[in-house]
Amino acid sequence: MLRGRGSRMRTGVAGAALVLAMISGTAMAQNAPTGDAVRGKAISYTCLGCHGIDGYKNAYPMYSVPKLEGQHADYLAAALKGYRDGDRSHLTMHSQASTLSDQDIQDIAVYFAGQPLAAPAGAKPGTPPPAAALCTSCHGADGISIAPTYPSLAGQHPDYIVRAIDEYKKGGRKNPIMKQFAGNLSDADAQVIAAYFSKLQPGLKTESRPYTRFGEPAPAAAAAKSP
Ligand code: HEC
Ligand code: HEC
Repeated sequence: MLRGRGSRMRTGVAGAALVLAMISGTAMAQNAPTGDAVRGKAISYTCLGCHGIDGYKNAYPMYSVPKLEGQHADYLAAALKGYRDGDRSHLTMHSQASTLSDQDIQDIAVYFAGQPLAAPAGAKPGTPPPAAALCTSCHGADGISIAPTYPSLAGQHPDYIVRAIDEYKKGGRKNPIMKQFAGNLSDADAQVIAAYFSKLQPGLKTESRPYTRFGEPAPAAAAAKSP
């Protein structure tokens, strides 16, 4: 962050000031997530039919189902409320979330987050492409977001990142912060940004849980990982 790089450094500072102004009202007001992961596990079985299968795709339009493991629980809860309450439009996720109470959402979010991503000690993030310079002030140069209400993007499917940016741009997702940042991006920039974040490690993962789509017994390796 402190290594100067000429003009990028200057735009970075201007961006950071803007970002700080936006952050102060939102993320910092949140408390640490509380939720019962054991209960979350019990009530989220059907979710794994999509989120527990590596490479599973949404159809029409076709893009990868997002990875949730390692994400911040606060962000997962906010996203679920978005689908439930109409800030995000996605028919399947709306019907999945519509019967969930706030407590259900909290419990599921804590369970799915598992161990949220953290940068390894001494890690030096690479150089983001210029198109992503502003994004990193919230989502991190290493793709690990700086506040629990912001999603980490490291390791996320690139086609899902592009799809999400597009939704903020076109209004399918109404989050005011992201509408502003996504609105200025060209499709080409969105591709470059998605390619950058999706390759970063440590990264988000598909839920590795001891269930499969059809409820067969879990392989031993997966069972050993379950909390
Ligand atoms: C039929 C497949 C399917 C099922 C079942 C499903 N999801 Fe999803 N989920 C998706 C897709 C596709 C998206 C991306 C939607 C979009 O474009 O906004 C998504 C998005 C999400 C997100 C937002 C992730 C992010 O990074 O913003 C969360 C959280 C989530 N799902 C949780 C759940 C939970 C909890 C359940 C069970 C109650 C569930 N999903 C069931 C397909 C599914
Ligand atoms: C001021 C902080 C901030 C900045 C700067 C920012 N974002 Fe975000 N971003 C957020 C927040 C908050 C959300 C969650 C919005 C919601 O609830 O839907 C988000 C969500 C996203 C998502 C959805 C992730 C998912 O899992 O669904 C993507 C993709 C994303 N941002 C990309 C970007 C890109 C690309 C930029 C730069 C052009 C950027 N963001 C700049 C705060 C920020």
